[in-house]
Amino acid sequence: MKPAVVFLFFFLTACYGFILDSVTNRKVCYGELGCFTTDAPFNGLQRPITVVPASPDVIKTQFLLYTRDSPTTADEQVLLYSDASTILSSMYSGSRPTAFIVHGFTHHGHRQWILNMKQALLKKRNINLIVVDWGHGAGIPYAQATANTRVVGAETGMLINQLISVTNTSAADVHVIGHSLGAHIAGYAGDRVQHLGRITGLDPADPYFQGGDPIIRLDATDADFVDVIHTDASSILELGMGSIQQMGHVDFYPNGGKDQPGCDAGLLGKVSHTVWNAVSQLDLYAGEATVACSHERSYELFTESISSSCPFKAYPCTSAAEFDLGHCLRCHGDECSEMGYNSINFAARGSLYLQTQANAPFCNYHYQLNVTGKNNMDGVVTAVLQGQNGNSSPIKLMTDNEVHTQGHTISKFIKIKEDIGEIVAVAMQYDKTSSVLTGWAYPEDWLLMGVSLMDGSTQQLSSFCGYGKTVTNHKAISMGLSGTC
Ligand SMILES: *[C@@H]1O[C@H](CO)[C@@H](O)[C@H](O)[C@H]1NC(C)=O
Ligand SMILES: *[C@@H]1O[C@H](CO)[C@@H](O)[C@H](O)[C@H]1NC(C)=O
Repeated sequence: MKPAVVFLFFFLTACYGFILDSVTNRKVCYGELGCFTTDAPFNGLQRPITVVPASPDVIKTQFLLYTRDSPTTADEQVLLYSDASTILSSMYSGSRPTAFIVHGFTHHGHRQWILNMKQALLKKRNINLIVVDWGHGAGIPYAQATANTRVVGAETGMLINQLISVTNTSAADVHVIGHSLGAHIAGYAGDRVQHLGRITGLDPADPYFQGGDPIIRLDATDADFVDVIHTDASSILELGMGSIQQMGHVDFYPNGGKDQPGCDAGLLGKVSHTVWNAVSQLDLYAGEATVACSHERSYELFTESISSSCPFKAYPCTSAAEFDLGHCLRCHGDECSEMGYNSINFAARGSLYLQTQANAPFCNYHYQLNVTGKNNMDGVVTAVLQGQNGNSSPIKLMTDNEVHTQGHTISKFIKIKEDIGEIVAVAMQYDKTSSVLTGWAYPEDWLLMGVSLMDGSTQQLSSFCGYGKTVTNHKAISMGLSGTC
């Protein structure tokens, strides 16, 4: 079945349930993988239907190995956990670190995003890269795909243990990256491996998992370091597919973690655009890309983070709303981190926030600009940050004419895509309201009292030569750092 249709079906089944023959089957055993039951905690309240996983013969999981010397689909080698010779005769080397990529619901191991992530990881570091392709078990109904993750996780754990025993691979050097249901597969694999090095959960699936016992989902006990990126945690009624729940040692919430910029939000927008894109472009992946846009953003962000020179710096904050006001750009001690590939190099733990752009490259730099006026004004103020490497585009501090009384501080949260370097000056222009009704009540020019800027990436708080400066109506002025006034 085609992805767009599949995604719509998924919500119907997740919300209303359906009848499966296997509902009556409460326990299955699959040889060395062990037995799987539908007993607690697998039958929790968040699971309207609980079924046992399909057999490995049906799921047909394939572990596809790639290395720098065998990077393409034509070079891929299939590893079997039950046959050590497939490992020993392959390009796999226990002296290199190993990364796994695990897809989620309705995807398979050769989707474009997997090829992109594989390529970026191999370019970054000389590793063994293994794609877990469980496409035969990842289709509808959702309840069955959910159950199948237990078998795929068990198989992945078996393979890792086999790699450890036959090649001197160290568990600490193994990193499992999973998207959606794949994040929970990574969790199940981690349950079976002593001190698995790292799991990255990319928007771990919410339906059937969120709020469940840690045994049934990804959690911080599954590896020595678990980092999670949440991108689509809006409610299931709005077709949100990811979890809002903290599941790792460090959890990143870009743009609040619920809806991503450049993606539709809300049920109606998502469904209508999905159907439209699927039909008008005769491309069902285009339909899926619309309904799952925020969900899929998680792997795009991670892949970008592998090679980006922009750091995806993330900050602790009491809430996403508070972060969006620009109130949390200060890092005390080592409580800030970088989202994605580099997060393991930071000591920060807990929930961290950042904003991103709507289009690739997504990473940006965060600033808070404060401007305090000495007299009343009514108009629009535009600022330009002047850095050592270039200028920002003009930033409107308000979208429309706004009245500000004397002594009021205008505070603006700014995100800039380019690295313009250390900010050495701020240029500002005041365009007074042209309203004939109120314009007479305000002075022609605007007198400043203070201009200050917090630069999140450098942690520098700077003030500029704003005190006593006059911004002449419609004319820009530039103010250097306060030490230079
Ligand atoms: C694994 O390590 C042991 C001891 O360090 C060594 O004797 C053996 O040759 C290694 N095996 C492989 C496959 O590298
Ligand atoms: C801007 O003003 C707010 C509120 O007074 C303050 O908390 C914040 O530190 C200021 N930021 C800068 C860059 O001056």
